[in-house]
Amino acid sequence: MLRQPNSETQFAILAAKAAGRILMEGFGTGVRIEQKAREIDLVTEFDRRSEALILGRIRKAYPGHRILSEESGRSPAAPALRGEARGEGGSGEEPIWMVDPLDGTTNFAHNLPLFSVSIALCRAGRAVVGVVYDPTRRECFWAERGKGAYCGESRLRVSGNTELGGSLLVTGFPYDAWTNPDNNLELFGRFSKRCRGVRRLGSAALDLSYIAAGRMDGYWEMRLSPWDVAAGGLIAEEAGARVTAMDGESDYLSETPSLIAANPALHAKMAEVILRRP
Ligand code: IPD
Ligand code: CA
Ligand code: CA
Repeated sequence: MLRQPNSETQFAILAAKAAGRILMEGFGTGVRIEQKAREIDLVTEFDRRSEALILGRIRKAYPGHRILSEESGRSPAAPALRGEARGEGGSGEEPIWMVDPLDGTTNFAHNLPLFSVSIALCRAGRAVVGVVYDPTRRECFWAERGKGAYCGESRLRVSGNTELGGSLLVTGFPYDAWTNPDNNLELFGRFSKRCRGVRRLGSAALDLSYIAAGRMDGYWEMRLSPWDVAAGGLIAEEAGARVTAMDGESDYLSETPSLIAANPALHAKMAEVILRRP
């Protein structure tokens, strides 16, 4: 039987869908692309318009809550996430919304229909609500902590593939990959020799949602941002994935998350490859 989302989840779902409609107004119309700090890190008017809509709704509905959002950063009252997780720099009790108004900007800018809107609500350093909306397929992935994960009305479950050799993995590469040797390419090669295939879709939030849906078996990626993974990480966990930092054990939600997500047996095998255990 379908569980009804709570009021915060319903709010996030409606906001993500409204933001998705904005993105679809621009998708495929040849939007103007701007470069951020690095040549390959892009932003468009639609990242900003989507963000303005979501942040406006949050401020109106939850004026006391804090916000951490990709294009406009932290709301002034928000302490560093890492500090908050440790209980420093604030009570750690004020809820914080983590927003990626367009996850997959490079795909969007190249007219590739693989991008999403990601909204999470976190309490005491953990996501309690996560919503990832893909406006091109009209798929809405959502989860509440302890209550399961869904795509629309369908309950999600991770794949039961426990062997690397039969697994389809997904990953991504950091924006400083041209210059930083710690760029995931070596690991990409290592996994490519051990599994059925490795995909690079270009939206971390969708990667994690696809792990939840059993469309991919395992995911790893390094040096992301909290808004990339807060919602998708919860959705994957609630579908039965083990989601950790790349050491295979600790919490993944930090200032620069690096993570592994897969069913527990495959997660252990992925961690062994990453940590180069025999
Ligand atoms: C990016 C996507 C991509 C991941 C990058 C992210 P953006 O987010 O999630 O899959 O590999 O590291 O920064 O910039 O499109 O919002
Ligand atoms: Ca992102
Ligand atoms: Ca983004």
